[in-house]
Amino acid sequence: MNIKKIILLGGGGFAREVLETIDEINKHTEDTLLPIGFIYDGGDKEKGKLIHDIPVLGNLTNLKQVDLNNVFLVASIGRTVWRRKMVETATKIGGQFLSIIHPSAHISKWAKIGEGAIIQRHCAVMPEMKIGDFFISNSLVSIGHDTIIGDFVHINPTVNIAGGSIIGNDVFIGVKATILPVKIGDGAVIGACTLVTKDVPPNVIAKGIPAKYFKMDEKSY
Ligand SMILES: CC(C)(COP(=O)(O)OP(=O)(O)OC[C@H]1O[C@@H](n2cnc3c(N)ncnc32)[C@H](O)[C@@H]1OP(=O)(O)O)[C@@H](O)C(=O)NCCC(=O)NCCS
Repeated sequence: MNIKKIILLGGGGFAREVLETIDEINKHTEDTLLPIGFIYDGGDKEKGKLIHDIPVLGNLTNLKQVDLNNVFLVASIGRTVWRRKMVETATKIGGQFLSIIHPSAHISKWAKIGEGAIIQRHCAVMPEMKIGDFFISNSLVSIGHDTIIGDFVHINPTVNIAGGSIIGNDVFIGVKATILPVKIGDGAVIGACTLVTKDVPPNVIAKGIPAKYFKMDEKSY
C-alpha cells in the first residue's frame, strides 16, 4: 500500500468539501491519501486548531518547514484570485500539486486536464476537451465536448456548459449558470443562475437571464 501525504491549501468550506472527496477516494483505492494539515492566509492565528481532526499548520510561511519531496499540495481554495496567488507562492517554495478527482466523476479518455485539478462528484468532462491547470469543477457540473478551458477556472455546482465553449483564464462561474457555446474572456465572473447567450468580455460580471455585463471594480471571485 502506497501512502501519499497531503497538505490542503485553504481552510474554508471548499477545503472541507475536498477533504470529504479525499475520504471517498480512499474508500475506492488500495493506496491512501493522508491529509496531514491545512495551510491558509490567516492560518498562523489558528495554528493547532483542528478541522475534522486535521491540524491547521499556519500560513504559507510554514510550508518552508515541510519536506516538500514527501508531501503533495492540493489547491482547495474556491476564490480564483486567492487560489492563483497561493499556488504561485507555494510553487516558488517547491510545492508539487496533486489532482483530486471524485470516483463518481466521468472523465473522457479523450479529454486533457492540466495539473492540480479538483473535480467533484458526478461531474462529466467530455471528449476532446482541453482544460488548463488548477481547474475546479464542483459537484454535478456538465461540460460538453470540444470545450476549451484556461488556467485557474472555478465552475460551481450544477453549472451546464454547452460543447464548443471557450473559457478564458481565472473565470469564476456561479452555481446553476448555463453557458451556450460562447467565448468567455479572462477574469470574467458569471453570476449564479445566469444564462450566457453571447460572448463575455474579459474582467466583467455577467448576470441575469439572458446575461447583461457589468464593470467589475475589483475581482474578488
Ligand atoms: C453576481 C455576483 C458575483 C455579485 O455581483 P455584484 O454585481 O457584486 O452583485 P451585488 O450583490 O452588488 O448586487 C447588485 C445587483 O445585482 C443583482 N444580482 C446579484 N447576483 C445576481 C445574479 N446572479 N443574477 C441576477 N442578478 C443578480 C442583485 O440582486 C442586485 O440587484 P439590485 O441592484 O436590483 O438590488 C454574485 O451575486 C453571484 O451570483 N455570485 C456567485 C455565487 C456562487 O455561485 N457561489 C458559489 C458558492 S458554492
